[in-house]
This record gives sequence, structure tokens and C-alpha cells, in this order.
Amino acid sequence: MVLIEISNLTKLYKSGRSTIRAVDGLDLIVHKGDFLAIVGPSGSGKSTLLQLLGCLDKPTSGDIKIDDKDITRLNDRKLADLRQKKIGFIFQSFNLIPTLTARQNVEAAIAKRGRNDKTGTLEVLEKVGLAERANQLPSLLSGGEQQRVAIARALINKPEIILADEPTGNLDSQTGKMIFDLLHQLSKSENTTVIVVTHDLSIAGQTDKTYHLKDGKLS
Ligand SMILES: Nc1ncnc2c1ncn2[C@@H]1O[C@H](COP(=O)(O)OP(=O)(O)OP(=O)(O)O)[C@@H](O)[C@H]1O
Ligand SMILES: [Mg+2]
Repeated sequence: MVLIEISNLTKLYKSGRSTIRAVDGLDLIVHKGDFLAIVGPSGSGKSTLLQLLGCLDKPTSGDIKIDDKDITRLNDRKLADLRQKKIGFIFQSFNLIPTLTARQNVEAAIAKRGRNDKTGTLEVLEKVGLAERANQLPSLLSGGEQQRVAIARALINKPEIILADEPTGNLDSQTGKMIFDLLHQLSKSENTTVIVVTHDLSIAGQTDKTYHLKDGKLS
């Protein structure tokens, strides 16, 4: 089943008098449950593509359909709503709130049903193997543990799609592999679609498919 269909996607940035074509006429089809890697040199547009897919930014032109709905036509409120319901984001630098415990970081991401309904928080922390550290502040957790909290936070709203931008970039190779295996397992056991941007070719080699981003296009 096709979940995401991207056609002729373009994102231009103006830089002084020149124009940067970060994404340039890109096409991509992603099926439900796919586990994909996108690789490419620094500046090739990987983060830009992920931000467009994650409804964090709008393209200059082209279409992104999720579940056959063109998200580039949605207004900001509807985009935010779609993002909360369908998409979980994971970043290289974890992006946890330092003053909140692991558990509170996950709770802070609970969408819609209201912040008072905290069901599921311990289950997702359990899923990433961190239930016992639920009450720790991020500063007391290792990098791998912090990234697992970030994954739990991405999972709390049961997203159909997980977008991960260099999720192992700040971790040693062994911890990185553990995080990667966790994402892999999630894609297989819950049929979650996972798209990972990475420089690490050994990681890219283990996904269902690997795309190379160059000159704003995938091959
Ligand atoms: N907000 C912005 N304004 C202007 N130019 C931008 C902006 N964001 C990205 N760019 C430019 O677009 C191009 C693609 O950037 P992007 O961050 O997507 O690359 P990347 O592949 O993620 O690189 P890295 O591997 O270093 O994270 C770069 O040339 C970058 O300088
Ligand atoms: Mg990037």
C-alpha cells in the first residue's frame, strides 16, 4: 500500500543573489511499513526533505501526498494536526527538554486527547527499555538513553511515520547500532514506516531500501 507519494518536489532557498536548490524535482514513493535510508553528502538536502515530509516546512513547488491527501495544500493548523497524529520526529541532538524527566518529556508530546490523559507513557518507555529510568532528567542519562527517550516521545501518539534525521550521529557506533536496531524492530513489529537520514553507510546497508540524494534528487 502506497503511504507517501512525492512528485516533482522542489525547495529553493534564496541566498543573497543566488538560489540554492536544496530539493529539486524530487520523486519518491514510500509504502506502508517501509524502512528506508536516505544518504547523501552534507548540504545535499536531506534535512530539508525530511522537514518537508514532516510538515515542518512548505515546498516551493511540487506535491507530497500522505494517504492520498496532498499535504502541501493544507493550512498551518491542519498541517500541525496531521504532524501530531501521523508523524514522529527523531533528531540527531535528541532535542529533549532538559528540565523535564524522561517520562515528562514523553507526556509533553501527547497530542489532542489532552495532557491529563497520560496513558501509554510507561508502555512506550518500556518498549525502548527505559521504564526504570522514567524519572531521570536527560542530563543524567547517556546519549543512547536520551535517544531512546526521544524515540519513546516519537511513539507516544502511535505515528504511522517516523522520520529520523541522523539519529545515531551523536552516538558511538555500538550505541548507534542499538538505536538503529530498535527503529528496525519498530518498523517490522508495528508496521510503522521509518525514514532515516544518515551519513553512516553501514546503517544504510541494513534498511529495506537506500536512496542517494544528490543535486536535489534521489537515485
Ligand atoms: N533555512 C535555510 N535558508 C537558506 N538555506 C538553507 C536553509 N536550510 C538549508 N539551506 C541550504 O540548503 C541546502 C541543503 O541543506 P540541508 O540542511 O537540507 O542539507 P543536509 O543534507 O541535511 O546536510 P547535513 O548532512 O550537513 O545535515 C544547503 O546548501 C543549505 O545551506
Ligand atoms: Mg541535515
